[in-house]
Amino acid sequence: MPNPGKTATFPVFAPHSPYAHSIASLSDGVLWVCLFILLIVIGLVGYSVRRFRERPGAPQPELIYGNWKLEVGYTAAFIVILGTIMYFSIRSMYASDPETIKPDNLSIVAHQWWWEVHYPGTGIVTANEIHIPVDVPQHVALRSADVIHDFWVPELGRKMDIIPGTVNQTWFSADTPGRYYGACAEYCGKEHAWMRIRVIAQTPSDFAQWEEAQRALPGAPSNGIALQGAEYFQELSCASCHTIRGTAARGDIGPDLTHVGSRETLAAGRLQNTPDNLVTWLEEPDLIKPGSRMPNLHLTRDQRDALTAYLEGLQ
Ligand code: CUA
Repeated sequence: MPNPGKTATFPVFAPHSPYAHSIASLSDGVLWVCLFILLIVIGLVGYSVRRFRERPGAPQPELIYGNWKLEVGYTAAFIVILGTIMYFSIRSMYASDPETIKPDNLSIVAHQWWWEVHYPGTGIVTANEIHIPVDVPQHVALRSADVIHDFWVPELGRKMDIIPGTVNQTWFSADTPGRYYGACAEYCGKEHAWMRIRVIAQTPSDFAQWEEAQRALPGAPSNGIALQGAEYFQELSCASCHTIRGTAARGDIGPDLTHVGSRETLAAGRLQNTPDNLVTWLEEPDLIKPGSRMPNLHLTRDQRDALTAYLEGLQ
């Protein structure tokens, strides 16, 4: 099913990767087994209520003490039922675990409250948006810069905790081009709710095009205002927290902004990435995302507009 970019109502039941399929089919299998048992229990209760109810003149039903046929029967039935569930579980475990540990395609660092995404060996660093080619398993190393977070994109696989001081591994892949939404799934402070993930699965050729554009340095500012913005970026304190490859900006506190203009959202999904929203974010970060480390620099209107023109031009 094509996924145009809308989250399914129950994304855990709308799997789009072999990993998520295995979990969903385990859940379905166990559900059918439970339904089968439920129907038997309801049937037996219904039968007993009708068959042995009190009637005028009817004698007391005979009490039974032990029935080896019945006991052997239900013990065998339990073995069959548990065996069936075990079969589904083992099948799901095999489908969920990669056959071999491969080098990481992706290295993700969770921060309060955004995601830093490295593509090892390419120099590409993005934030909050993870572009991947379809049908290619992504082996992911997960690290935390501060507290415990949890990576979860329900349509693509299960949750994975991210613990400070250790590296956790997971993997996922997507079977259809489209957008898959996720979020931090471990309460990590004030703006935990705005720590959104969007995985953008692309055809191999679209992904190659994206990768090539991201590897390249951004073009020079295209007009006077943007050029002024580039200067403000270095003069004000922006450059001490953010990196823009090809410039003197080498900060590593906030997201890498080398190609920020090509991203779909700002502040980990809090705002759509439009010039108006970027102006708002620069003016009122505390109002948009209280507690975020993005400071209010009390920019003048000129500074704010020039920075917006510059940053939105970083395609
Ligand atoms: Cu990070 Cu919740």
